[in-house]
Parts: sequence; C-alpha cells; structure tokens
Amino acid sequence: MDRHLTRILLIEDDEEDYILLQKLLAKIPAARYDVQWERTYEDGLAQMLAGEHDICMLDYMLGEHNGIDLIRIARSLDYIRPIVLLTGASDGDEIDIQALQAGADDYITKGQMQGELLQRVIRYAIERKKAEIEREKLLSEQFATRELEKRRSEFISMVVHELKTPLTSLKGYAQLLRKRYVPGTNEQIARLAERMDSQVNKLTGLVDDFLDVTRITAGKLQFREEYFEFDALVNEIIEELRPTTERHTICREGTTGQTIWGDRIRIGQVITNFLSNAIKYAPETDRILVKTSSDGSTVTLSVQDFGPGVPEEEQANVFSPFYRLEDLRTSTASGLGLGLHIAAEIIRRQEGQIWLESEEGKGATFSFTLPLDREHSTLLGDEADSVEQAT
Ligand SMILES: Nc1ncnc2c1ncn2[C@@H]1O[C@H](COP(=O)(O)OP(=O)(O)O)[C@@H](O)[C@H]1O
Ligand SMILES: [Mg+2]
Repeated sequence: MDRHLTRILLIEDDEEDYILLQKLLAKIPAARYDVQWERTYEDGLAQMLAGEHDICMLDYMLGEHNGIDLIRIARSLDYIRPIVLLTGASDGDEIDIQALQAGADDYITKGQMQGELLQRVIRYAIERKKAEIEREKLLSEQFATRELEKRRSEFISMVVHELKTPLTSLKGYAQLLRKRYVPGTNEQIARLAERMDSQVNKLTGLVDDFLDVTRITAGKLQFREEYFEFDALVNEIIEELRPTTERHTICREGTTGQTIWGDRIRIGQVITNFLSNAIKYAPETDRILVKTSSDGSTVTLSVQDFGPGVPEEEQANVFSPFYRLEDLRTSTASGLGLGLHIAAEIIRRQEGQIWLESEEGKGATFSFTLPLDREHSTLLGDEADSVEQAT
C-alpha cells in the first residue's frame, strides 16, 4: 500500500521529546512521517521560511524563547504552513488561546500525545489550512474581479464624458453653419450642414444612453422633479421628432389635462425613445399613434405603431440592457439597445409602470402610466442636483 509521506518540521529543544515523537509517529500504521528536527528558535525560523515541509510542530518552551513569539513572527513573515503547538502540562493557562490567536492551527499537550490523537491533529491541521488558503484565494479573486469591474465602469464613464465635450462643439458648429446659410445660395452646403447636425444628434443620443446606463449601474441616475403640464411635454416631443421622419404621420389622440410631479426631461426621454423606436423599427408604415389619457390619479401614454412588432417570446427581453431584436429589415437602425432599459428604470423610479403589447406582424404598443402626484421633497431634488454635478 502506498502510504502518503507527511513531512514534519519539529522545533524542540529537548531531545527526549524529539525521540518520543518519533516513536509515537512510527507506531501509526496507515501513515508515514518524516521529521526534520531543529533545536533552536533561530534555526527553526530559518527552516520554517525555507518551507520544505507540510506542517510545523513546535514546543512552547524554546530555551529563553517562547514558541508563541515564533508563531507570531513566522506568520508576520507570511508563513503559510499549518502550525501545531506542543505544550507541557505545567505550561500554564490559556496558552492554547494565545497560540491560536498568534496563528497556530492547533495545540497538543505532550502528556496526552498518543498515536491516534497525534495523527488526527496533524491531518486536521493540514486539511484545515488547505481549506483556509483555498477560501482566501477565492475571496481575493472575487475582490480582484469587483475591483476590476469598478475600474472598468469608471473608465467607461470617463470615456463617455470625454466624448461629450467635442460632440457639443461639433453640434454648435453644425448649427452655426445652418444659420449662416443664405437661402438661394449654395444649396449643397445647407444640405450637408443639416445632415451633419442630424448625425451629430444621433451620436449624442448614443453617448447619452451610454452615460445613463453607467449611471444606472452605479446607482447614480438622478432626478430633478417639478410640476409640469403633461400634454405640453407630449406635444413638444412630437414636434421635435416630426422632422426626423418623412414617411410617418404622428397622430395625437386624447389629452390628459393634467399637471404632474416628476422629472420632465427624464419622462420626455422615455416618450422620445418610444417614438423614435416606432420610427426606426416600423420603417415601412405611415402612421404612429400617440394616445394619452388620465383617470384622475394617473396619466397614461401609449405609442402605437403598425410595423413588425415584437414576437411574444421576445417581449420580456426588450427592457433588458443591450437587447436588440435580430431583424434584417431594421438591422441598419442605429442604437445600442439601451433606450428601453433606461426608460424602464426612469418609469420605475418615478413610481409608474411600463409595458409592451404586441402581436407579431401587426405592430407594437409601448405604454407607461405615472402617478399625478406622490410624496416628494424639493430637498431631494437639490441633493440630486449636486450629486449629478459631482459625477
Ligand atoms: N416599436 C418597435 N417595434 C419593434 N421592435 C421594437 C420597437 N421598439 C423597440 N423594439 C426592439 O427593442 C429593442 C430595444 O429597443 P431600445 O432599448 O430602444 O434600443 P435601440 O433603440 O437602441 O435599439 C430594439 O433594438 C428593437 O429590436
Ligand atoms: Mg431606442
């Protein structure tokens, strides 16, 4: 039978105790031990650090030195092998506790040393240490991953911020060019400036979505709340988006007549995304309906298109980040698949509901409801504002 060899480093100033240990170990039937014996504190420490053994057993009394000090020093020098302290019956109280606190894994009283107990103490100390190291490794790996994750998202958010600055300038130049155009002169320049402006808007939209998602992930999406007229916001957004599509007629159905409490810009962002999705993903249709209503305590808005819709099995996914349907007809539409995820987060934070109804081939209706009023404090808005500026 192949008996596994356990290498023991024994630090013991008393030769008789060394011989006794050898004898006891030799009697253990199912294991083989190799004992390396060191007599002094200094040689012991040197051998510990050399690390050519599986376990260290050391005496509490080492000449004028104390085994517990040796344990402490070895541990402070990153000694990772298991340590078992050997104590005499007369060594006094609480050495066991001191030993464990200093970094020993177990202790055994010399008077009680006999084969089976000795074998068990050695085996357990080795196994426990192994498990402990394994656990620490796992923990530190997890920690490193989290650290990396954090650095990565900080990096992304920095990159996105850096992209914003030149984009804002570009947008300004494009608008300036359009304004400088004198009607009846160079048509082509006007057209190019217009296209440039719309491409810059697209890019700004993508960057803003990305920025919002990094804020959501970091728990830093902030809201600036006020009372505002819901219908006016809806009309404003429809007017804003009308020039972006030649094909679609955007029809408004119903009004709410309500003033609501919430973040006007963020809620507008949700409506913009619903509408621009309808324009992008139902490109071969002419009509988009924007329906609004109120039941006296909430407002409801729906954007309905008559395009390909979203298949039943995909409907639950459209609100997940980075999710985009694979559809050849619309695969050229620009987008990162973030808009609906951000919309869902905004509506959730504004204490409303968001949902999708769709029958494949017949179109999609995206809706939300929002409470007219809810508990609020202007302080929260102010705080939110200063945090937002700090990001
Ligand atoms: N009106 C719609 N009709 C069909 N599919 C849609 C519609 N709106 C959204 N989708 C699908 O949901 C996905 C996610 O939308 P969104 O989060 O706004 O991302 P993006 O607009 O960047 O693609 C879209 O890529 C599209 O596949
Ligand atoms: Mg979108």
